[in-house]
Amino acid sequence: MRMELAPSMLAADFGHLAEQLQAIEEAGADRLHFDVMDGMFVPSISFGMPVMTSIRPYTKLPFDVHLMIEDPDRYLEDFRDAGAYGITVHAEACTHLHRTITRIRELGMHPGVALNPATDPSVLRYVLPELDLVLVMSVNPGFGGQKFIPFSLEKIRTVRAMAEACGSTPDIEVDGGINAQNVQLLMDAGANVFVAGTSVFRGDIAANVQAFRTAFQIWNDKEK
Ligand code: DX5
Ligand code: ZN
Repeated sequence: MRMELAPSMLAADFGHLAEQLQAIEEAGADRLHFDVMDGMFVPSISFGMPVMTSIRPYTKLPFDVHLMIEDPDRYLEDFRDAGAYGITVHAEACTHLHRTITRIRELGMHPGVALNPATDPSVLRYVLPELDLVLVMSVNPGFGGQKFIPFSLEKIRTVRAMAEACGSTPDIEVDGGINAQNVQLLMDAGANVFVAGTSVFRGDIAANVQAFRTAFQIWNDKEK
């Protein structure tokens, strides 16, 4: 599977957003991770459709939307209209998860399901074949800059094994406390898309993105 970097816009400098998006795109980021928070499902409030609509013209990166919101069905069309490529909803926030996944695909987007750290991957058992992405949260969602939770590694391995057992190859994305150093362990465990906020947007953005690309290359060379 191709290793991909999805910088989290949550950590960007909103006073220089267009420039920062250009910087991550030029440096080789693969997706823009768009962390939507409603202050209910998670303690913080971040941003939503108006911001996505306004930045859409400034970057060609696919928008990888992470809805950390209650009852996300209410906003699927709005985020599609704002330019979303994929929508990831939290299993813990959906009463009818299979219906939500189906609706995301009907709207022409790539469906994903996110699991909070304490949520067992078995909740995906019946929907995994219909997913393009599984997001394993490696922090408790709501804030950037938190410490990676170590048991996330075992969870990634479990999700990858579940996917292999049902013959599907969803992206396995990991989000929270990731850097160019610990990403090697995550790739070994079976993840292939990496959300990074602090470790990309703090300091030299181009160098930070390059550090991930170098880590991906080292892993690919090792796997040959
Ligand atoms: C949920 C958010 C954060 C963020 C990553 O809290 O999804 O995990 O994107 O932030 P860093 O990379 O700073 O841990
Ligand atoms: Zn996220």
